[in-house]
Amino acid sequence: MDIADRFEADVVIMGAGLTGLSAAMSLAEKHPGVSVIVLSKVHPLRSHSGAAQGGINAAVALEDKWEDHYYDTLKGGGFLGDQDAVQILTWNAPDAIYSLDRWGANFSRDPDGAFAQRPFGGQRRNRTCYVADKTGHALLNALYEQCVKKGVRFFDEWYVFSLITESDCLLGFLAFHNVTGRIGYFASRAGLVATGGAGRVYGQSSNALINTGDGMSLCLRAGVPLKDIEFFQIHPTGLPNGILITEGARGEGGYLVNAAGERFMKRYAPEFMELAPRDLVARSIQQEINEGRDYGDGCVRLDLRHLGEEKITSRLSQIRQIAMHFAGVDPVLDPIPVRPTVHYTMGGIDVDINCSTAVNGLFAAGEGSCVSVHGANRLGGNSLLETVVFGVRSGEVIPEFISSQPEPDRTHENTLLHDALSQFASLFGDEGTENVPDLRREMEKVMVGSFGLFRTGESMKAGLDHIRQLVDRFRFVRVPEAGLVFNSHLLHTLELRSMLDVAHACATAALTRTESRGGHYRLDFPLIDNQNFLKHSIVNMNPSGRMGLSYRDVTIVDTEPLDDIRY
Ligand code: FUM
Repeated sequence: MDIADRFEADVVIMGAGLTGLSAAMSLAEKHPGVSVIVLSKVHPLRSHSGAAQGGINAAVALEDKWEDHYYDTLKGGGFLGDQDAVQILTWNAPDAIYSLDRWGANFSRDPDGAFAQRPFGGQRRNRTCYVADKTGHALLNALYEQCVKKGVRFFDEWYVFSLITESDCLLGFLAFHNVTGRIGYFASRAGLVATGGAGRVYGQSSNALINTGDGMSLCLRAGVPLKDIEFFQIHPTGLPNGILITEGARGEGGYLVNAAGERFMKRYAPEFMELAPRDLVARSIQQEINEGRDYGDGCVRLDLRHLGEEKITSRLSQIRQIAMHFAGVDPVLDPIPVRPTVHYTMGGIDVDINCSTAVNGLFAAGEGSCVSVHGANRLGGNSLLETVVFGVRSGEVIPEFISSQPEPDRTHENTLLHDALSQFASLFGDEGTENVPDLRREMEKVMVGSFGLFRTGESMKAGLDHIRQLVDRFRFVRVPEAGLVFNSHLLHTLELRSMLDVAHACATAALTRTESRGGHYRLDFPLIDNQNFLKHSIVNMNPSGRMGLSYRDVTIVDTEPLDDIRY
């Protein structure tokens, strides 16, 4: 196995979703002298950002204030968000919308031409800008077109299998091209990991099949910790097969009802009802189901009928199509069966407010990272916002890094590449005694059973032990030689390695957090414990593959965290 090509760029961006594209665009607009390569596992327009439906938050309305957006985000996140990072997110939000508008995103408008904004969970104002119910698709297309126009160099269908670092300094990315089977080395002064979340560790999910935590795993293996990785978001409303039914449907006025026809949210969140934060709505739905008030199919119903055909068709046309195609229900005529679905990774690659990791020259942004803007539970509409604000920000800080730092020392680069290639080659062989589908199914089952909506110490302890066994058994997986061209066996093996790393880190951090906050809800510790756990978990992988756990204080700027959060 040899490296067929060596490419060079000042910046290599791994991932071509909205974070990667925003970074590329920011670099192309403001730093045309900085050379950029974007590597993507799939064609950029197949990135998971395109699946985002409901919208993107910003205090653009005259009567709204970024300070209110800031507070709603902190409270929704159980006050685990770093307040300096949340300030950056919410203060820059209006500019993000104006930039997207300038780049050609066709936002829905009110009759007077202002950005249309719908209510989303946990927010006191209509703050979510949208493009009907296809917001991510519209933004992704607009940004991709702009990047192509600016001449950004894309390398599609390249899978990165190793980050090359020396003395905590990034040298480059080692990858293979699915289409030709060639191995390429992308040497760079700086790199941005923008690879999105890891929802597929749970199996069924609203996430695309590609969301396997590859960037998180590569960073862990390069010595960068994961932060707050025990916090996964389970979205309240998915179809039985996991496909998302946007919060925008409730934002437009949809009701959640149980089999008795009751709008049960009045018992859980009397003020915010269906638009309470997601963790609370998801747990409420699951409780209705667990206590037998579902429709006998493990689902409650999302009723949109009172909105009328005109509104459903203009604002929620994709939802109507999805419900008809995947649940056999026309929401104009019948309520949609829904239940919670795994949706978002709040934790991720540990970065500071400038998207810097512990490895010099290595940056990360977007869902794959944790700058800590979402805390323990993300508000709907803040995910797209993070991609643009921190994508653009990384495009501003990386050139500063490049101009202020000396070239990395590449004396040992060839030896490091040789070692990384040998390790990659060791995945191949005929003598494997474990197989990927079995290990993957077991991992998914453990994650759903032990690290889902309701967690307990006992079940998490068993879950962590089981994940450790799976990590051990993964050593006996081999990919039968079949070249590198669209070798799905190879891809699934590498993706499983990534997912096991994320699951292992999640289980390690979750077991030790003896409180409930946002996406981490423990039946045996049902209250927030600010005294002991107003802290980020930091998980490192040591050379033997074991996970180490430490904690770091949350950054407080001006807002006292509440001990009792109500909606
Ligand atoms: O419900 C939704 O449309 C999802 C939005 C989000 O996750 O931000």
